[in-house]
Amino acid sequence: MLKLNVNGKAASFDGDPETPILWVLRDHLDVTSPKFGCGMALCGACTVHLDGAPIRSCSTPVSAAAGKKITTVEGLPAKLGKALQDAWIAEEVPQCGYCQTGQMMSAAALIKTNKNPSNEQIVAAMDGNVCRCGTYSRIQKAVTRAAKASA
Ligand code: FES
Ligand code: FES
Repeated sequence: MLKLNVNGKAASFDGDPETPILWVLRDHLDVTSPKFGCGMALCGACTVHLDGAPIRSCSTPVSAAAGKKITTVEGLPAKLGKALQDAWIAEEVPQCGYCQTGQMMSAAALIKTNKNPSNEQIVAAMDGNVCRCGTYSRIQKAVTRAAKASA
């Protein structure tokens, strides 16, 4: 039995420890904000934080999360989560929306360490998050806005 911490709450998983974190979250713990895109660590739709660092949950076994904190978009610190949500709304970022929680988790990881990121730093931090709808320019504006609001 693996003991987990998801968004500050204790959880457990008694299946195969090689099961990707994404499926433990979605299928066993009913946390469905991280999305399945590629399953190969190539698109970023499944991004969550493990002890505060962004990871691709589709390609990270749940055994790697033992004794660590898993955070999804629902569990971000309140000020940062609100800043991201407000910025995403203000810039009307989402189109289909499928990639957006992954985008927000990568943005959150950047903003936690850099409250005034340059456009180049934003592009570099968000590089692994694919958006099939092409919302990249709006994402860039929203990250800038969220960083200012959370400073
Ligand atoms: S679903 Fe994990 S990176 Fe694409
Ligand atoms: S908003 Fe549709 S994939 Fe990004």
